[in-house]
Amino acid sequence: MNDVGSTGRKATLRLGCEPADVALAADILRRGGLVALPTETVYGLGADATNGSAVARIYEAKGRPRFNPLIVHVPTLEVAVRLGTFSQDALTLARRFWPGPLTLVVPLATGHGVSGLALAGHETIGIRIPAHPAALALLTATDRPIAAPSANLSGHVSPTRAEHVLADLDGRIDAVIDGGAAQVGLESTIIACLPGGITLLRPGGICEREIAAALRLQSDLQRAGGGTILAPGMMVSHYAPKARVRLDATEANAGDAVLLFGGPVVAGLDQAATVLDLSPSGDLVEAAANLFDYLRRLDATGAAAIAVAPIPRNGLGEAINDRLGRASAAT
Ligand code: TXA
Ligand code: MG
Repeated sequence: MNDVGSTGRKATLRLGCEPADVALAADILRRGGLVALPTETVYGLGADATNGSAVARIYEAKGRPRFNPLIVHVPTLEVAVRLGTFSQDALTLARRFWPGPLTLVVPLATGHGVSGLALAGHETIGIRIPAHPAALALLTATDRPIAAPSANLSGHVSPTRAEHVLADLDGRIDAVIDGGAAQVGLESTIIACLPGGITLLRPGGICEREIAAALRLQSDLQRAGGGTILAPGMMVSHYAPKARVRLDATEANAGDAVLLFGGPVVAGLDQAATVLDLSPSGDLVEAAANLFDYLRRLDATGAAAIAVAPIPRNGLGEAINDRLGRASAAT
């Protein structure tokens, strides 16, 4: 695939909502670029959710120091049910509130095609159909699920106008579609519909009582953490490898699974059971795109230990090292 890339610090294209603008934005997304799009809640920073490198560039552009699962945006319920497994309750909420400011976290469907980085290694997926007509037109034209966190630099407030997006991200993303002021101005409500029950993960644009009424619940919704709301994304525990993870390895032990970065820099690779390289050329975007998938592949070999080569801590390296650090602490 021919990725357009987005870190060349070109000026960001400012587009309107005309069909030709939407078609151009869809083309950029399909080639792996970044497009900020208006939604009724806040502006999102969109990338093709099936393209790991495109998703990695979201993190690079936002300067996010750690990987969170991203909300995947789709144009129809028909597309949504190909990505996730919807219970009766999930279907009830989807039919009642979509398109609209509601995100449903559901178990992943088989053959979903979404990159492990967009899911941050979770086996669940957060899905939303936004209500803004330009967002729906873009999702339909792109014909790919679009991962989109809020379109601001990490730590800044969420943008509700195209000007806010440009104030943070001009030159860091390929284009922004100006769809006027966001009507809701507050992020979507996130509800998990998982086999364990229905849980409010984040309050947002749709109030809790409306959700409870749609489900004919007698009582309040269960909240993540039993009364206190955990930070979104914390509720469904992160994938933790079964193998022991050894960081900054300079040498492989017999039977290790080895995760390289930037070529065969680890000694004793001939003793290793399996070797994968996150990016032979030492490209952090490529490494981030491969991270979750490679960790799973190495863990699936049944090796007792995964030895990870040193990975630089600049740029996306910070988030990569954060994730690997938590994987090594979990075992
Ligand atoms: O209104 C919104 O939701 C906006 C617009 C652009 O759609 N998006 C947004 O995305 O607020 P973001 O990345 O800022 O927040 C998404 C939150 C994250 O904190 C993440 O942890 C949670 O959703 N999330 C996504 N997928 C999840 C999953 N599988 N399990 C648990 N939490 C999830
Ligand atoms: Mg945000």
